[in-house]
Amino acid sequence: MKKLFALLIIGIVIPLILVSFRPVKPANPETDQYLVIAWNDLGMHCANLDFSNMCILPPYNNQKAHVILKGDASNLPTIMPHSSGIYVTYEIPGNTYSVGKTNFWTYSLHLFGVTLAPNMGLAGFGLTGTMLNADTMNYHYATGIPITAFPDATPTTSTPYQLTLIKAYTSTGTQLASTQSVIPISHEISCVSSGCHSSEMAILQAHESVTGFNIANKPILCATCHSDNALGTPGHAGTPPFSQAIHQKHGSFINTGTIADCYKCHPGPNTQCWRDTMHSAGAAGGTVSKCQNCHGSVANVGNTIASGRNPWLQEPSCGAVSCHGSNYAEEPGKLFRQSKGHGGLFCSSCHSSPHAILPSERPEDNVQNIALQGFAGTLKTCSVCHGYTPAAPGPHGYNPLGIKPVNGNIPSDNKLLVNYPNPASFMTNIPYHISTSGKVKIDILDMNGKTITTLVNNILQAGEYKAEFYTSRVAPGTYLCYLNVDGITDVRKIIVSH
Ligand code: HEC
Ligand code: HEC
Ligand code: HEC
Ligand code: HEC
Ligand code: HEC
Repeated sequence: MKKLFALLIIGIVIPLILVSFRPVKPANPETDQYLVIAWNDLGMHCANLDFSNMCILPPYNNQKAHVILKGDASNLPTIMPHSSGIYVTYEIPGNTYSVGKTNFWTYSLHLFGVTLAPNMGLAGFGLTGTMLNADTMNYHYATGIPITAFPDATPTTSTPYQLTLIKAYTSTGTQLASTQSVIPISHEISCVSSGCHSSEMAILQAHESVTGFNIANKPILCATCHSDNALGTPGHAGTPPFSQAIHQKHGSFINTGTIADCYKCHPGPNTQCWRDTMHSAGAAGGTVSKCQNCHGSVANVGNTIASGRNPWLQEPSCGAVSCHGSNYAEEPGKLFRQSKGHGGLFCSSCHSSPHAILPSERPEDNVQNIALQGFAGTLKTCSVCHGYTPAAPGPHGYNPLGIKPVNGNIPSDNKLLVNYPNPASFMTNIPYHISTSGKVKIDILDMNGKTITTLVNNILQAGEYKAEFYTSRVAPGTYLCYLNVDGITDVRKIIVSH
């Protein structure tokens, strides 16, 4: 069974590791400024609490982190690679043990075929420890953290949104940075408490007619026969995947078309796992107001698997044409949680997890970005990582500064001024004048006429502006800068020498 977890980890990790690194100077905590950004892969992890009859999901939570060396006016920020020797630790202050809060360890050998040390999770991580990372990754991770929703101080009060404490250290143990991230966990799998099933034993008895299903062999891991991509189990040939069986079976009668349908099993009326900015917008009259807007009905979740959807691995996407479109899309063929965007950062490092997209209705989700930039919501303050606000397009082309005039003068013509420095090695400033308001585009082309990057693509008012072109990322040589204002162009040569 250990193999199956390895499979799960490999399945998720391999697509993420195709990252190349630039050489990085060794960490010098005396002079360098670092930040660490951490997140959970899913907006919520569910787990059973009592494993004596059956197991749908074990305690299994994940954290990931980027360690970033801050940039300044002459260096881009750097996501620190494995070779830097930097390591990251995690802990959940106030939640130091799980044995006794759940009976998982009594049954882990029977259910998963592994003998686990107390409080150790199925992937070899405990409630506190050091994250892993590798030469091929630009992030650190801990998988299968066996947290329960019960802090030490209140072992009977469910607390689904607890905070981790994440710390980054140099190879010699000097602390560089720390942060807090949510490690969401809920036991609200409500087969019985919803009033639908009289007991877990009744569920097992109803299933007994299936060949090979043996109550005497309880506790029963549903994913033994039903394949489950959440656990990496292959299941039995011919038995429907778990998600298909559960949603098809219940979809015929749990079909009011409201969020309450999903909260019968997903957590839930108390946990309210979908709590993100789209939920708030929906509650205020926006177009997305229930799970079904993105996932379809309960029956649809099951039926789409029957017709070929791979459960857990093919889900809705932000980049769908009917949603946010291609400028805000995941990487091709990848989920949101697997995708990286601006600067090689995971989407979640600025936006948080699926169903918890910032700003969130849960204050815990907002803690990290309030600490980083002073307010809740998407990490959009460039200086947090860059040390200043670049006058060039950032994430999705967004830039808070690049289209602000540098002064109040109204120039007499549209033109590019001499860029400085020229030749440029790291970055060159490109001042330009716009005499009447209009659609302004500034492109950098190589000598073959191929567009290398677009620096500005906006409607601008008349004024004097400045754009930045990051030349450290392009090969040395001569480039052409084109200014196009409502079809009228100006052009200038830019020399890059590293
Ligand atoms: C021994 C193998 C085995 C185990 C363990 C198992 N199932 Fe099944 N399950 C099956 C088979 C086989 C079917 C029948 C599929 C079919 O109808 O084609 C099935 C069908 C189902 C269905 C659909 C029933 C219907 O009437 O359409 C549900 C729901 C279901 N299982 C849930 C569970 C749950 C929950 C667990 C864990 C408590 C579980 N199963 C454990 C083998 C298993
Ligand atoms: C009868 C209980 C039940 C109901 C009702 C239910 N779910 Fe689920 N759902 C589950 C269980 C159990 C799993 C976990 C299956 C596994 O471990 O693979 C799951 C997994 C999922 C998954 C991930 C697997 C996949 O198919 O991609 C999605 C997405 C999902 N549910 C969406 C929904 C939505 C949306 C609703 C409401 C429209 C809903 N579910 C209603 C029990 C339910
Ligand atoms: C705004 C669209 C949207 C809404 C609304 C939404 N989801 Fe999702 N859901 C997604 C996306 C996108 C993913 C894939 C995220 C990923 O893993 O990268 C997803 C994935 C899932 C998964 C698989 C686990 C995971 O996080 O990947 C489950 C289970 C799920 N959703 C359940 C629900 C339930 C239950 C609701 C309502 C309470 C809901 N979703 C509402 C977009 C949505
Ligand atoms: C460095 C931080 C950062 C990263 C990484 C990042 N984004 Fe964004 N994202 C932003 C900012 C800032 C905005 C607001 C932009 C604006 O207002 O134009 C935004 C806006 C969005 C929006 C909302 C667009 C709308 O219509 O309002 C979506 C959807 C989105 N991002 C998806 C993604 C996806 C998918 C990824 C990963 C492939 C990603 N983002 C990576 C910072 C980031
Ligand atoms: C969470 C950290 C972070 C935030 C916030 C951030 N950046 Fe970046 N940015 C990076 C990293 C990392 C790189 C990649 C450096 C490299 O390639 O070595 C980068 C690269 C860039 C580049 C170089 C060209 C490119 O696209 O790779 C520009 C321009 C840039 N960022 C602008 C912005 C602007 C504007 C903002 C604010 C709206 C912003 N960034 C916010 C981390 C960040």
